[in-house]
Amino acid sequence: MGKILQLKAKLIYNKRVSGRYLHLAVEAPKIANVAKPGQFIEVRVSDGLEPFLRRPFSVHSIRGGQIEILYEVFGRGTEVLSQRKPEESLDIIGPLGNGFDYKPQATGHRLQVLVAGGMGVAPLTFLAERLKKLQAPCLSGRQASSKLQALVLIGAKTKKEILCEKEFQNLGCEVKIATDDGSRGFKGYVSNLLIKVLSTVDCRQSTIYACGPKPMLKEIARVSKKYNIPAQISLEEHMACGIGACLGCVVNTKNGYQRVCKEGPVFDAEKIIW
Ligand code: FES
Repeated sequence: MGKILQLKAKLIYNKRVSGRYLHLAVEAPKIANVAKPGQFIEVRVSDGLEPFLRRPFSVHSIRGGQIEILYEVFGRGTEVLSQRKPEESLDIIGPLGNGFDYKPQATGHRLQVLVAGGMGVAPLTFLAERLKKLQAPCLSGRQASSKLQALVLIGAKTKKEILCEKEFQNLGCEVKIATDDGSRGFKGYVSNLLIKVLSTVDCRQSTIYACGPKPMLKEIARVSKKYNIPAQISLEEHMACGIGACLGCVVNTKNGYQRVCKEGPVFDAEKIIW
């Protein structure tokens, strides 16, 4: 893991994407230059004493020296954050955590399947940006078979809650949608859409990268085992310190208890004891 920095970063924008979801960007080139997909930053949402704890946010996108996060307003911390204005400075720590291992030469695999449930899109857009840099054409039928391929599956409760579809498409990705109520795309869980996809494509050289609610990730782990496809999953645990000190985020793995904020948040799905 590289050096972890704490710094004051200028807030560039903090704008509503839809409903209770916002995009926030800060100027933080020292962190932006070294952050890897799957890593996160800890943000002190207020300069005052309240709320005291920092909040963790996945790196959603990097543009030059700017780091963008995607967040949902659902409690006091994110409510305070949503009030912050451009030109203010935010105290941030990062990059934190391990990140995805996505280099094709590292995995030896070509087909990259990104599976997001709800807010799980947050780290996967950054991964898609980096895959694009690796010249990843998507599953549009035009790719040379020897090249890296990528496909994005997004799950949401309803069509209104689908996040980042355009972002992935703008990166050249083919996107497939699953909604619980069938209001868009496949009706059912995104893990079931994954099963459908895997049964129609040659998945011998696939890697799955997933982020979302724990039950979804558990199912992805089961599917990846059944199809014998390696899966890297990014766990979303409640984090207090975010830097490995409080042990408040441990998960049980085949290697013993591990900290989501330090040894994770990305784990091989097969290593987690659910
Ligand atoms: Fe404190 Fe992970 S949040 S050890």
